[in-house]
Amino acid sequence: GEGEPIPQPPERWLTGNLGEINPEFSMGSLWRLADVYGPIFTLNLVKRKIVVLSSHALINEVCDEKRFEKKVAGAQEAIRVFVKNGLFTSYNEEEEWGIAHRTLLPAFGPLHVRTMFPKMTDILSQMILRWDRFGPDYRISTHDDFTRLAFDIIGLCAFNHRFNAFYSEELIPFAKQLGDVLIETGKRTSRPEIQNTLAFLSKRHMMENIHAMWKVCDDIVAERKANPRPDIDDTLNVMLNAKDPVTGKGFTDENIRYQMATFLVAGHDTSAGTMMFLFYNLLKHPEAMQKCYAEVDAVLGDRELQMEDIPKLKYIDAAMKEALRFCGPIPAFMRQAKETTIIGGKYKVTPNETLTFNLKGLHNDPAVWGPDAAEFKPERFLNGGWERLPPNSWKPFGTGVRSCIGRYLAEQEVLITMAMVLQRFVIEMADPDYELKIKSTLTIKPDEFYIKARRRPGRD
Ligand code: HEM
Repeated sequence: GEGEPIPQPPERWLTGNLGEINPEFSMGSLWRLADVYGPIFTLNLVKRKIVVLSSHALINEVCDEKRFEKKVAGAQEAIRVFVKNGLFTSYNEEEEWGIAHRTLLPAFGPLHVRTMFPKMTDILSQMILRWDRFGPDYRISTHDDFTRLAFDIIGLCAFNHRFNAFYSEELIPFAKQLGDVLIETGKRTSRPEIQNTLAFLSKRHMMENIHAMWKVCDDIVAERKANPRPDIDDTLNVMLNAKDPVTGKGFTDENIRYQMATFLVAGHDTSAGTMMFLFYNLLKHPEAMQKCYAEVDAVLGDRELQMEDIPKLKYIDAAMKEALRFCGPIPAFMRQAKETTIIGGKYKVTPNETLTFNLKGLHNDPAVWGPDAAEFKPERFLNGGWERLPPNSWKPFGTGVRSCIGRYLAEQEVLITMAMVLQRFVIEMADPDYELKIKSTLTIKPDEFYIKARRRPGRD
Protein backbone atom coordinates (compact mmCIF):
# COMPACT_ATOMS: atom_id res chain seq x y z
CA GLY A 1 0.00 0.00 0.00
CA GLU A 2 0.90 3.66 -0.17
CA GLY A 3 0.72 4.30 3.54
CA GLU A 4 -0.43 7.53 5.16
CA PRO A 5 1.26 10.82 4.28
CA ILE A 6 3.97 11.86 6.74
CA PRO A 7 3.22 15.25 8.39
CA GLN A 8 5.09 18.08 6.65
CA PRO A 9 5.22 21.87 6.99
CA PRO A 10 3.80 23.72 3.96
CA GLU A 11 6.23 23.81 1.02
CA ARG A 12 7.32 26.91 -0.91
CA TRP A 13 7.76 27.05 -4.64
CA LEU A 14 11.40 26.12 -5.61
CA THR A 15 12.72 26.08 -2.04
CA GLY A 16 10.43 23.42 -0.56
CA ASN A 17 10.95 23.41 3.22
CA LEU A 18 14.46 24.94 3.15
CA GLY A 19 13.09 28.09 4.76
CA GLU A 20 12.34 26.09 7.93
CA ILE A 21 16.04 25.44 8.55
CA ASN A 22 18.35 27.93 10.23
CA PRO A 23 21.72 27.19 8.54
CA GLU A 24 23.60 28.42 11.64
CA PHE A 25 21.90 25.85 13.88
CA SER A 26 19.90 23.35 11.84
CA MET A 27 19.36 21.00 14.80
CA GLY A 28 17.57 23.77 16.70
CA SER A 29 15.17 24.03 13.76
CA LEU A 30 14.46 20.28 13.89
CA TRP A 31 13.82 20.50 17.66
CA ARG A 32 11.32 23.32 17.05
CA LEU A 33 9.58 21.46 14.20
CA ALA A 34 9.33 18.27 16.30
CA ASP A 35 7.42 20.29 18.92
CA VAL A 36 4.99 21.42 16.23
CA TYR A 37 4.66 18.34 13.99
CA GLY A 38 5.27 15.50 16.43
CA PRO A 39 7.32 12.27 16.46
CA ILE A 40 7.53 11.95 12.66
CA PHE A 41 7.64 14.68 10.05
CA THR A 42 9.25 15.11 6.67
CA LEU A 43 11.04 18.01 5.01
CA ASN A 44 11.78 18.63 1.37
CA LEU A 45 15.30 20.12 1.39
CA VAL A 46 15.32 20.33 -2.43
CA LYS A 47 18.52 18.28 -2.88
CA ARG A 48 17.10 15.57 -0.62
CA LYS A 49 14.16 14.57 1.51
CA ILE A 50 14.53 13.91 5.21
CA VAL A 51 12.20 12.19 7.65
CA VAL A 52 12.80 13.23 11.26
CA LEU A 53 12.02 10.67 13.98
CA SER A 54 11.64 11.85 17.58
CA SER A 55 10.03 9.03 19.59
CA HIS A 56 11.39 5.85 21.13
CA ALA A 57 8.83 3.70 19.30
CA LEU A 58 9.90 4.89 15.84
CA ILE A 59 13.63 5.09 16.57
CA ASN A 60 13.61 1.63 18.13
CA GLU A 61 12.02 0.25 14.96
CA VAL A 62 14.54 1.98 12.69
CA CYS A 63 17.48 0.69 14.79
CA ASP A 64 16.66 -2.75 13.33
CA GLU A 65 19.82 -3.64 11.41
CA LYS A 66 18.01 -6.12 9.17
CA ARG A 67 15.78 -3.44 7.65
CA PHE A 68 17.84 -0.26 8.07
CA GLU A 69 21.45 0.94 7.92
CA LYS A 70 23.55 4.07 8.34
CA LYS A 71 23.16 6.83 5.77
CA VAL A 72 26.01 9.17 4.87
CA ALA A 73 24.36 12.43 3.80
CA GLY A 74 24.24 16.16 4.43
CA ALA A 75 27.04 17.69 6.50
CA GLN A 76 28.55 14.26 7.12
CA GLU A 77 28.81 13.57 3.40
CA ALA A 78 30.22 17.05 2.85
CA ILE A 79 33.25 16.34 5.08
CA ARG A 80 34.20 13.40 2.86
CA VAL A 81 36.20 15.99 0.93
CA PHE A 82 38.57 15.75 3.91
CA VAL A 83 38.10 12.32 5.54
CA LYS A 84 36.97 10.39 2.42
CA ASN A 85 36.41 6.71 3.17
CA GLY A 86 37.60 6.82 6.77
CA LEU A 87 35.42 4.79 9.14
CA PHE A 88 32.99 7.57 10.02
CA THR A 89 32.12 8.73 6.49
CA SER A 90 32.49 5.46 4.51
CA TYR A 91 29.50 4.41 2.50
CA ASN A 92 28.21 1.05 3.69
CA GLU A 93 29.38 -0.70 0.54
CA GLU A 94 32.97 0.61 0.60
CA GLU A 95 35.41 -2.23 1.21
CA GLU A 96 37.72 -0.02 3.32
CA TRP A 97 35.05 0.25 6.01
CA GLY A 98 35.02 -3.51 6.64
CA ILE A 99 38.82 -3.77 6.64
CA ALA A 100 39.16 -0.89 9.08
CA HIS A 101 36.25 -1.97 11.29
CA ARG A 102 37.46 -5.54 11.71
CA THR A 103 41.10 -4.72 12.31
CA LEU A 104 40.60 -1.63 14.49
CA LEU A 105 37.75 -2.77 16.75
CA PRO A 106 40.10 -4.55 19.21
CA ALA A 107 42.44 -1.53 19.27
CA PHE A 108 39.53 0.59 20.56
CA GLY A 109 38.06 -2.15 22.77
CA PRO A 110 37.85 -1.81 26.55
CA LEU A 111 40.92 -3.95 27.24
CA HIS A 112 43.15 -1.99 24.97
CA VAL A 113 41.76 1.36 26.12
CA ARG A 114 42.83 0.46 29.68
CA THR A 115 46.45 0.45 28.52
CA MET A 116 46.00 4.11 27.51
CA PHE A 117 45.52 5.13 31.15
CA PRO A 118 49.05 6.51 31.74
CA LYS A 119 48.92 8.49 28.50
CA MET A 120 45.61 10.06 29.48
CA THR A 121 46.81 11.04 32.96
CA ASP A 122 50.03 12.42 31.43
CA ILE A 123 48.05 14.87 29.28
CA LEU A 124 45.67 15.69 32.13
CA SER A 125 48.49 16.63 34.43
CA GLN A 126 49.50 19.21 31.81
CA MET A 127 46.03 20.74 31.96
CA ILE A 128 46.08 20.75 35.74
CA LEU A 129 49.48 22.42 35.80
CA ARG A 130 48.16 25.07 33.41
CA TRP A 131 45.09 25.75 35.57
CA ASP A 132 47.32 26.00 38.64
CA ARG A 133 49.73 28.40 37.00
CA PHE A 134 46.96 30.71 35.80
CA GLY A 135 45.43 30.77 39.27
CA PRO A 136 41.91 31.05 40.68
CA ASP A 137 40.87 34.27 38.89
CA TYR A 138 41.73 33.12 35.39
CA ARG A 139 38.76 32.61 33.04
CA ILE A 140 39.29 29.15 31.63
CA SER A 141 37.76 28.68 28.19
CA THR A 142 36.23 25.22 28.50
CA HIS A 143 36.17 25.04 24.74
CA ASP A 144 39.87 25.73 24.29
CA ASP A 145 41.19 23.63 27.15
CA PHE A 146 38.98 20.60 26.60
CA THR A 147 39.81 20.79 22.90
CA ARG A 148 43.53 20.80 23.77
CA LEU A 149 42.97 17.94 26.18
CA ALA A 150 40.97 15.72 23.86
CA PHE A 151 43.27 16.45 20.96
CA ASP A 152 46.44 15.64 22.85
CA ILE A 153 44.87 12.48 24.25
CA ILE A 154 43.79 11.11 20.90
CA GLY A 155 47.17 12.00 19.36
CA LEU A 156 49.14 10.28 22.10
CA CYS A 157 46.83 7.28 22.51
CA ALA A 158 46.25 6.51 18.84
CA PHE A 159 49.53 7.58 17.20
CA ASN A 160 52.00 8.02 20.05
CA HIS A 161 52.30 11.59 18.84
CA ARG A 162 52.42 14.67 21.05
CA PHE A 163 50.59 17.67 19.66
CA ASN A 164 51.59 19.58 22.83
CA ALA A 165 48.49 21.71 22.62
CA PHE A 166 48.91 22.93 26.22
CA TYR A 167 52.26 24.46 25.35
CA SER A 168 50.87 27.13 23.07
CA GLU A 169 48.58 30.07 23.68
CA GLU A 170 46.89 29.72 20.32
CA LEU A 171 44.83 26.62 19.60
CA ILE A 172 47.00 24.26 17.57
CA PRO A 173 46.82 24.84 13.80
CA PHE A 174 45.04 21.52 13.14
CA ALA A 175 42.12 22.50 15.40
CA LYS A 176 41.88 25.91 13.79
CA GLN A 177 42.09 24.53 10.24
CA LEU A 178 39.49 21.89 11.01
CA GLY A 179 37.14 24.53 12.42
CA ASP A 180 37.48 26.58 9.22
CA VAL A 181 36.88 23.53 7.01
CA LEU A 182 33.76 22.56 8.96
CA ILE A 183 32.35 26.06 8.55
CA GLU A 184 33.01 25.94 4.81
CA THR A 185 31.60 22.41 4.27
CA GLY A 186 28.61 23.43 6.36
CA LYS A 187 28.01 26.43 4.09
CA ARG A 188 28.43 24.28 1.02
CA THR A 189 25.70 21.87 2.18
CA SER A 190 23.18 24.63 2.65
CA ARG A 191 24.09 26.59 -0.53
CA PRO A 192 22.66 25.89 -3.97
CA GLU A 193 25.23 24.21 -6.30
CA ILE A 194 25.63 27.28 -8.52
CA GLN A 195 26.74 29.38 -5.56
CA ASN A 196 29.23 26.69 -4.58
CA THR A 197 30.73 26.84 -8.04
CA LEU A 198 31.09 30.58 -7.70
CA ALA A 199 32.67 30.33 -4.27
CA PHE A 200 35.93 29.01 -5.76
CA LEU A 201 38.17 31.23 -3.63
CA SER A 202 36.75 29.86 -0.42
CA LYS A 203 37.05 26.38 -1.92
CA ARG A 204 40.73 27.01 -2.60
CA HIS A 205 41.24 28.18 0.96
CA MET A 206 39.40 25.08 2.22
CA MET A 207 41.62 22.79 0.14
CA GLU A 208 44.74 24.51 1.52
CA ASN A 209 43.54 23.79 5.03
CA ILE A 210 42.75 20.19 4.12
CA HIS A 211 46.20 19.62 2.60
CA ALA A 212 47.81 21.08 5.71
CA MET A 213 45.88 18.62 7.92
CA TRP A 214 46.66 15.67 5.63
CA LYS A 215 50.32 16.63 5.89
CA VAL A 216 50.18 16.41 9.69
CA CYS A 217 48.92 12.82 9.31
CA ASP A 218 51.36 11.92 6.53
CA ASP A 219 54.30 13.28 8.53
CA ILE A 220 53.41 11.14 11.53
CA VAL A 221 53.28 8.06 9.29
CA ALA A 222 56.58 8.94 7.59
CA GLU A 223 58.23 9.41 10.97
CA ARG A 224 56.94 6.02 12.17
CA LYS A 225 58.14 4.30 8.99
CA ALA A 226 61.55 5.89 9.39
CA ASN A 227 61.67 4.89 13.07
CA PRO A 228 59.54 1.76 13.49
CA ARG A 229 58.27 1.08 17.01
CA PRO A 230 57.69 -2.69 17.27
CA ASP A 231 57.60 -2.20 21.06
CA ILE A 232 54.22 -0.43 21.10
CA ASP A 233 50.75 -1.41 19.93
CA ASP A 234 49.03 1.87 19.08
CA THR A 235 46.41 2.35 16.36
CA LEU A 236 49.01 3.51 13.89
CA ASN A 237 51.00 0.28 14.19
CA VAL A 238 47.80 -1.74 13.82
CA MET A 239 47.05 0.08 10.57
CA LEU A 240 50.60 -0.28 9.26
CA ASN A 241 50.76 -4.00 9.97
CA ALA A 242 47.19 -5.30 9.81
CA LYS A 243 45.93 -8.02 7.51
CA ASP A 244 42.15 -8.20 7.48
CA PRO A 245 41.06 -11.83 8.16
CA VAL A 246 38.18 -11.59 5.67
CA THR A 247 39.76 -9.94 2.61
CA GLY A 248 43.41 -10.62 3.42
CA LYS A 249 44.05 -6.94 2.67
CA GLY A 250 45.81 -4.28 4.70
CA PHE A 251 45.47 -0.49 4.71
CA THR A 252 46.73 1.63 1.84
CA ASP A 253 48.85 4.65 2.85
CA GLU A 254 46.11 6.90 1.56
CA ASN A 255 43.47 5.19 3.65
CA ILE A 256 45.68 5.38 6.75
CA ARG A 257 45.72 9.15 6.26
CA TYR A 258 41.92 9.30 6.13
CA GLN A 259 41.55 7.07 9.19
CA MET A 260 43.98 9.26 11.14
CA ALA A 261 42.14 12.40 10.10
CA THR A 262 38.90 10.67 11.11
CA PHE A 263 40.17 9.82 14.58
CA LEU A 264 41.40 13.34 15.09
CA VAL A 265 38.09 14.84 13.94
CA ALA A 266 35.69 12.36 15.54
CA GLY A 267 37.83 11.96 18.63
CA HIS A 268 38.37 15.48 19.88
CA ASP A 269 35.29 17.61 19.26
CA THR A 270 32.90 15.03 20.69
CA SER A 271 34.92 14.35 23.84
CA ALA A 272 35.51 18.06 24.42
CA GLY A 273 31.79 18.78 23.94
CA THR A 274 30.85 16.00 26.37
CA MET A 275 33.10 17.45 29.07
CA MET A 276 31.67 20.92 28.47
CA PHE A 277 28.07 19.70 28.76
CA LEU A 278 28.94 17.64 31.82
CA PHE A 279 30.57 20.55 33.67
CA TYR A 280 27.76 22.86 32.60
CA ASN A 281 25.07 20.54 33.96
CA LEU A 282 26.93 19.84 37.19
CA LEU A 283 27.53 23.53 37.84
CA LYS A 284 23.81 24.15 37.29
CA HIS A 285 22.98 21.31 39.71
CA PRO A 286 25.18 21.84 42.77
CA GLU A 287 23.67 18.86 44.64
CA ALA A 288 24.80 16.56 41.81
CA MET A 289 28.22 18.24 41.75
CA GLN A 290 28.55 17.68 45.51
CA LYS A 291 27.92 13.96 45.00
CA CYS A 292 30.72 13.88 42.42
CA TYR A 293 33.10 15.53 44.90
CA ALA A 294 32.02 13.14 47.62
CA GLU A 295 32.66 10.17 45.36
CA VAL A 296 36.12 11.37 44.32
CA ASP A 297 36.99 11.97 47.98
CA ALA A 298 35.70 8.56 49.04
CA VAL A 299 37.43 6.65 46.25
CA LEU A 300 40.68 8.62 46.03
CA GLY A 301 41.13 10.92 48.98
CA ASP A 302 44.42 12.58 48.16
CA ARG A 303 46.25 9.65 46.65
CA GLU A 304 46.98 9.36 42.96
CA LEU A 305 44.32 7.99 40.60
CA GLN A 306 44.85 4.38 39.45
CA MET A 307 43.17 2.52 36.59
CA GLU A 308 41.46 0.30 39.20
CA ASP A 309 39.62 3.35 40.60
CA ILE A 310 37.75 4.07 37.37
CA PRO A 311 34.98 1.46 37.76
CA LYS A 312 34.34 2.79 41.27
CA LEU A 313 33.35 6.22 39.96
CA LYS A 314 29.73 5.16 39.63
CA TYR A 315 28.02 8.47 40.30
CA ILE A 316 30.34 10.35 37.94
CA ASP A 317 29.73 7.70 35.29
CA ALA A 318 25.98 8.16 35.80
CA ALA A 319 26.38 11.96 35.55
CA MET A 320 28.29 11.53 32.28
CA LYS A 321 25.56 9.27 30.86
CA GLU A 322 22.90 11.70 32.02
CA ALA A 323 24.74 14.64 30.41
CA LEU A 324 24.86 12.66 27.15
CA ARG A 325 21.14 11.93 27.46
CA PHE A 326 20.32 15.52 28.27
CA CYS A 327 22.23 16.98 25.35
CA GLY A 328 25.22 15.26 23.79
CA PRO A 329 27.65 16.59 21.19
CA ILE A 330 26.06 14.60 18.36
CA PRO A 331 22.37 15.52 18.47
CA ALA A 332 21.32 13.40 15.49
CA PHE A 333 22.45 10.70 13.13
CA MET A 334 21.04 9.26 9.94
CA ARG A 335 19.71 5.93 8.72
CA GLN A 336 18.12 4.64 5.55
CA ALA A 337 15.79 1.78 4.70
CA LYS A 338 17.49 -1.08 2.87
CA GLU A 339 14.27 -1.55 0.88
CA THR A 340 11.05 0.43 0.64
CA THR A 341 9.14 -0.31 3.82
CA ILE A 342 6.43 0.88 6.23
CA ILE A 343 7.40 2.38 9.60
CA GLY A 344 5.18 3.15 12.57
CA GLY A 345 2.61 0.78 11.03
CA LYS A 346 1.56 3.32 8.37
CA TYR A 347 4.29 5.52 6.90
CA LYS A 348 6.04 4.46 3.73
CA VAL A 349 9.77 5.21 3.42
CA THR A 350 12.05 4.54 0.46
CA PRO A 351 15.84 3.84 0.55
CA ASN A 352 16.79 7.26 -0.79
CA GLU A 353 15.07 9.12 2.02
CA THR A 354 17.17 10.18 5.00
CA LEU A 355 15.77 8.95 8.31
CA THR A 356 17.14 11.37 10.90
CA PHE A 357 17.15 10.34 14.56
CA ASN A 358 16.41 13.36 16.72
CA LEU A 359 18.13 12.28 19.93
CA LYS A 360 16.55 15.05 21.97
CA GLY A 361 13.16 13.54 21.12
CA LEU A 362 14.33 10.02 21.98
CA HIS A 363 16.10 11.07 25.17
CA ASN A 364 13.09 13.02 26.42
CA ASP A 365 10.41 10.53 25.46
CA PRO A 366 8.29 10.12 28.63
CA ALA A 367 7.39 6.58 27.51
CA VAL A 368 10.99 5.64 28.38
CA TRP A 369 12.26 8.33 30.69
CA GLY A 370 9.13 9.12 32.65
CA PRO A 371 7.50 12.42 33.57
CA ASP A 372 10.78 13.92 34.87
CA ALA A 373 12.58 13.43 31.53
CA ALA A 374 13.32 17.16 31.30
CA GLU A 375 15.29 17.15 34.57
CA PHE A 376 19.01 16.46 34.95
CA LYS A 377 19.12 13.45 37.30
CA PRO A 378 22.21 11.22 37.22
CA GLU A 379 20.43 8.91 39.70
CA ARG A 380 18.40 7.41 36.88
CA PHE A 381 21.54 5.63 35.66
CA LEU A 382 22.47 4.27 39.10
CA ASN A 383 21.74 0.86 40.62
CA GLY A 384 20.81 -0.96 37.45
CA GLY A 385 18.48 1.84 36.26
CA TRP A 386 20.44 1.58 33.08
CA GLU A 387 19.70 -2.13 32.47
CA ARG A 388 15.98 -1.64 33.05
CA LEU A 389 15.61 0.68 30.04
CA PRO A 390 13.90 -0.69 26.93
CA PRO A 391 16.32 -1.42 24.04
CA ASN A 392 17.57 1.59 22.05
CA SER A 393 16.53 4.18 24.65
CA TRP A 394 19.93 5.87 24.96
CA LYS A 395 21.83 6.37 21.71
CA PRO A 396 24.45 9.15 22.08
CA PHE A 397 27.05 6.85 20.49
CA GLY A 398 24.94 5.82 17.50
CA THR A 399 23.63 2.35 16.76
CA GLY A 400 24.49 -1.00 15.21
CA VAL A 401 27.67 -1.83 13.31
CA ARG A 402 28.26 1.85 12.53
CA SER A 403 28.08 2.97 16.15
CA CYS A 404 30.99 4.79 17.77
CA ILE A 405 34.29 2.91 17.78
CA GLY A 406 35.75 5.45 20.23
CA ARG A 407 33.14 5.02 22.95
CA TYR A 408 35.35 3.30 25.54
CA LEU A 409 38.17 5.71 24.88
CA ALA A 410 35.85 8.71 25.28
CA GLU A 411 34.17 7.40 28.44
CA GLN A 412 37.47 6.59 30.13
CA GLU A 413 38.89 9.97 29.16
CA VAL A 414 35.91 11.83 30.63
CA LEU A 415 35.97 9.83 33.88
CA ILE A 416 39.71 10.40 34.35
CA THR A 417 39.25 14.10 33.66
CA MET A 418 36.48 14.41 36.23
CA ALA A 419 38.39 12.49 38.87
CA MET A 420 41.64 14.40 38.45
CA VAL A 421 40.03 17.82 38.18
CA LEU A 422 37.57 17.44 41.06
CA GLN A 423 40.23 15.93 43.30
CA ARG A 424 42.23 19.15 43.05
CA PHE A 425 39.97 22.07 42.18
CA VAL A 426 36.79 23.77 43.22
CA ILE A 427 35.19 24.60 39.87
CA GLU A 428 32.89 27.59 39.45
CA MET A 429 31.17 29.32 36.56
CA ALA A 430 33.22 32.36 35.57
CA ASP A 431 29.92 34.11 34.80
CA PRO A 432 27.55 32.95 37.54
CA ASP A 433 24.40 33.64 35.51
CA TYR A 434 25.69 31.99 32.32
CA GLU A 435 22.81 30.30 30.51
CA LEU A 436 23.43 27.59 27.94
CA LYS A 437 24.04 28.87 24.44
CA ILE A 438 24.79 26.30 21.78
CA LYS A 439 27.46 26.54 19.13
CA SER A 440 26.83 24.24 16.22
CA THR A 441 29.40 22.89 13.76
CA LEU A 442 29.58 19.19 12.92
CA THR A 443 28.85 18.72 16.62
CA ILE A 444 27.13 20.97 19.15
CA LYS A 445 28.67 22.38 22.34
CA PRO A 446 28.08 25.10 24.90
CA ASP A 447 29.24 28.45 23.51
CA GLU A 448 31.23 31.04 25.47
CA PHE A 449 31.30 28.83 28.54
CA TYR A 450 34.06 29.85 30.99
CA ILE A 451 34.94 28.43 34.37
CA LYS A 452 37.33 29.22 37.22
CA ALA A 453 39.41 26.63 39.07
CA ARG A 454 40.58 27.19 42.64
CA ARG A 455 42.89 24.73 44.42
CA ARG A 456 41.04 22.79 47.11
CA PRO A 457 42.51 23.37 50.56
CA GLY A 458 45.06 20.71 51.37
CA ARG A 459 45.13 19.38 47.80
CA ASP A 460 48.42 20.70 46.48
C1 HEM B 1 30.80 7.10 15.19
C2 HEM B 1 29.35 9.73 18.98
C3 HEM B 1 33.92 9.87 20.65
C4 HEM B 1 35.42 7.77 16.58
C5 HEM B 1 30.02 7.78 16.09
C6 HEM B 1 28.58 7.93 15.98
C7 HEM B 1 28.18 8.68 17.03
C8 HEM B 1 29.36 9.00 17.81
C9 HEM B 1 26.76 9.13 17.35
C10 HEM B 1 27.68 7.37 14.87
C11 HEM B 1 27.54 8.35 13.75
C12 HEM B 1 26.57 7.92 12.68
O1 HEM B 1 25.81 6.96 12.84
O2 HEM B 1 26.57 8.56 11.63
C13 HEM B 1 30.46 9.98 19.76
C14 HEM B 1 30.41 10.64 21.05
C15 HEM B 1 31.70 10.68 21.52
C16 HEM B 1 32.54 10.04 20.53
C17 HEM B 1 29.16 11.20 21.71
C18 HEM B 1 32.25 11.24 22.79
C19 HEM B 1 31.62 11.24 23.93
C20 HEM B 1 34.72 9.30 19.71
C21 HEM B 1 36.14 9.12 19.84
C22 HEM B 1 36.59 8.56 18.70
C23 HEM B 1 35.42 8.34 17.84
C24 HEM B 1 36.99 9.52 21.05
C25 HEM B 1 38.03 8.24 18.44
C26 HEM B 1 38.51 7.44 17.69
C27 HEM B 1 34.30 7.41 15.87
C28 HEM B 1 34.34 6.71 14.59
C29 HEM B 1 33.02 6.50 14.19
C30 HEM B 1 32.18 7.08 15.24
C31 HEM B 1 35.59 6.28 13.84
C32 HEM B 1 32.53 5.79 12.93
C33 HEM B 1 32.36 4.32 13.21
C34 HEM B 1 31.89 3.54 11.97
O3 HEM B 1 31.07 4.04 11.21
O4 HEM B 1 32.37 2.42 11.81
N1 HEM B 1 30.46 8.44 17.21
N2 HEM B 1 31.75 9.64 19.48
N3 HEM B 1 34.31 8.80 18.50
N4 HEM B 1 32.99 7.61 16.22
FE1 HEM B 1 32.37 8.53 17.91
